[in-house]
Amino acid sequence: MADYTTHHFTAASRYTVSVGYDRRLYAHDIEASMAHARMLGRQGIVSKADAKAIVGGLEDVRREIEAGSFVWRDELEDLHMNIEARLHELIGEPAARLHTARSRNDQVATATRMYVRSAIAETDRGLRQLQDALVSVAEAHRDAIMPGYTHLQRAQPVLFAHHLLAYFEMFDRDAERFSQAARRASVLPLGAGALAGVPYPIDREWVAGELGFDGVSANSMDAVADRDYIVEFLAAAAICMMHCSRLAEELVLWSSAEFGFVHLGSEWVTGSSIMPQKRNPDFAELARGKTGRVYGSLVALLTVLKGLPLAYNRDLQEDKEGLFDTVDTLGATLDAFRGMLGSIEVDEARMAAAAQDSALLATDMADYLVGKGVAFRDAHAAVGALHEAASARGVGLGELSLEELRAQSPAFEADVADVTARSSLAARDVEGGTAPSRVADALKQARKRLEAAGG
Ligand code: ARG
Repeated sequence: MADYTTHHFTAASRYTVSVGYDRRLYAHDIEASMAHARMLGRQGIVSKADAKAIVGGLEDVRREIEAGSFVWRDELEDLHMNIEARLHELIGEPAARLHTARSRNDQVATATRMYVRSAIAETDRGLRQLQDALVSVAEAHRDAIMPGYTHLQRAQPVLFAHHLLAYFEMFDRDAERFSQAARRASVLPLGAGALAGVPYPIDREWVAGELGFDGVSANSMDAVADRDYIVEFLAAAAICMMHCSRLAEELVLWSSAEFGFVHLGSEWVTGSSIMPQKRNPDFAELARGKTGRVYGSLVALLTVLKGLPLAYNRDLQEDKEGLFDTVDTLGATLDAFRGMLGSIEVDEARMAAAAQDSALLATDMADYLVGKGVAFRDAHAAVGALHEAASARGVGLGELSLEELRAQSPAFEADVADVTARSSLAARDVEGGTAPSRVADALKQARKRLEAAGG
């Protein structure tokens, strides 16, 4: 009878047990084992009958796992040994031939690469839905004007849609990063064996094709030793969470009484146990907070890898929990944003009122003077002085009379009254600018890009 325990199991050896979490790889591990068994049969490394028995048995194991009747045993340490041991119980002797021309080292790398690929496909769906939600809010409020900020100080008027589309671009680059990571993950390690390759006439290309890999690894030691494909996934996830966190921060600010720009739907806020008036943006806050654990997983894995000699080391088993946690955290975060954005009520009047602050037009007044032949630096100084004088009197720049303006710069004429928040927007008619025609075009392009991405 084959023995599937890898060492003498004691209470202390719980330290090495991973089955509590690595069983999440079961579907990929079984699929890879089936392809491996079929290949062994095709190549005459095991008999066709044995290959068939193995594949059938693995199907039963999968059914048991999915039905919840599979008994996971800690003393078998990881999911690979659990599955193989159960296969042996079910089909007997042929099960002992499955591990021919394979090691757990190339086996786990294969299952993890498959997992990362499917996690990225899932992440891409979440990202596209979030982008879609952003574009929908932008489309529904395409004329809404708001103050754009630098240093969180009112800077220049922008379209709300323009502000939202900035996040569309960030998430678009995130999707691109994930898809590049998926491409590099799509290389089959099986055939690397423990580290040096295997002494059997295997057909790696055939297995790669069966499992949907784009190719096979070129170096057996690299194949079992590196986890850079997980690092890349975690790095892309960390960047994506950073973007989510910034958007979260905006939602927190915008939904505060101080801004009052948006109102989040009641499912996306919580009350306070003591203050009856509270509508706390907890989902946005948690999205901001959960960014930390994703950064943590990235740094943890980089640290696990940095001192490891080639090839496989058991340290590599530490790659999984951070990966799984990141997949869950990112997926739930993307879902929460889609929901929050779908529920959002936008107070266009509040935004417009904030954008009416004439200080926002200081740059445009300077540009107005430039239009009258004044050098920009001089125009900047003149408007700066006017702004200071107005502030000292407790009035806005827009409340100064033409005479007061002309006292500072004789280039001011009656048509300075045409400088408004709307004229400020329209003037920014450059590629990527906030002019309404440009933003309308950007919205159309965003829709097209989403369609092309299959979202
Ligand atoms: N559970 C192990 C891991 O995740 C599988 C590979 C074990 N290989 C070994 N030589 N002990 O890394």
